[in-house]
Amino acid sequence: MKAKLKNQPSYTLNQKRRSTLQLAGLSLASLFCGASAFAADPIKIGFLVKQAEEPWFQDEWKYAEQAAREKGFTLVKIGVPNGEKLMAAIDNLGAQKAQGFIVCAPDVKLGSAIERAAKRHQLKVFSVDDQLQDGKGQVIASIPYMGISAYEIGKQVGASLLAEIKARGWKMQEVGAMRIAYDQLPTARERTMGAVDALKAGGFPVTNLIDANLVKSDTESAYNAANIVLTKQSGFKHWIIFGMNDEAVLGAVRAAEARKFTQESMLAIGIGGSKSALNEFAKPKQTGFFGSVLISPKRHGYETSMMMYEWISSNRQPPALTLTSGTLMTRSNQHDVRKQFGL
Ligand code: GLA
Repeated sequence: MKAKLKNQPSYTLNQKRRSTLQLAGLSLASLFCGASAFAADPIKIGFLVKQAEEPWFQDEWKYAEQAAREKGFTLVKIGVPNGEKLMAAIDNLGAQKAQGFIVCAPDVKLGSAIERAAKRHQLKVFSVDDQLQDGKGQVIASIPYMGISAYEIGKQVGASLLAEIKARGWKMQEVGAMRIAYDQLPTARERTMGAVDALKAGGFPVTNLIDANLVKSDTESAYNAANIVLTKQSGFKHWIIFGMNDEAVLGAVRAAEARKFTQESMLAIGIGGSKSALNEFAKPKQTGFFGSVLISPKRHGYETSMMMYEWISSNRQPPALTLTSGTLMTRSNQHDVRKQFGL
């Protein structure tokens, strides 16, 4: 074969080479054209969360990944613990030619800045968990939002606490109620005020309602806030504890345990139902953490991502407002309740 080629006149070789190259060029070009129809728009969606270390947000990401696998888009997960990181993440998504992002911002008041940055990069925005506001504290209705029915879920927490107080035969006068408060975050305020209103409606003495104010929304901050309350209010025989999420409630439970309150003398109900709660239920003995209202990271992660995908690919705008519900989950019904939620 080699010898044959060697013997061929050089012009033939050159011609052959040229035509092969042309052919290759052509097919490369057509490939490139074909691909560029896709390459112009491989769908890329950002999912930015304020507290990437919290199990709730890890679950949201997990379900968003499921949507990405099903639809074949790229999911860009970025933790945005502060405004600076958030703005950098949006710029980064713009540079990567993403088409949209879902966001739970570290501060809801960054809403207008987020909307402006998104417009600048032609990115669609969908907010999840914490509804975005403008500088004046007004909800930005032009940004679609999915969040929990905060006040209703809070009322569920309050009603469940009351039912359990009765079941235990505690005298309400002897019970202190600790609201782990983080009032700068509207959903946190609505959740905990829902619980307060349900307690009041059930005849719980208003003077026994005490706020433990969070500096940051995490377990450590809740531990410290609860410690202050437990020091100042040492007269109660029992404590009930509620807050915006499981992490906050668990901080207070740990603080009460340090003061020798046990599951017989305290009763705490959180909101979330992800790993923080499940780990607690997995302990050999029931702790003061009685239950958690399970909310759906699947809806908040998978559904928001699907809606964003449809918005980008078919120009179908998500509903302006989607509110999700919750169900009380305890040690004993955890498997059934999670199953009902498709988790
Ligand atoms: C807020 C809380 C989270 C979680 C979500 C649910 O963002 O910080 O812990 O409860 O709401 O929407």
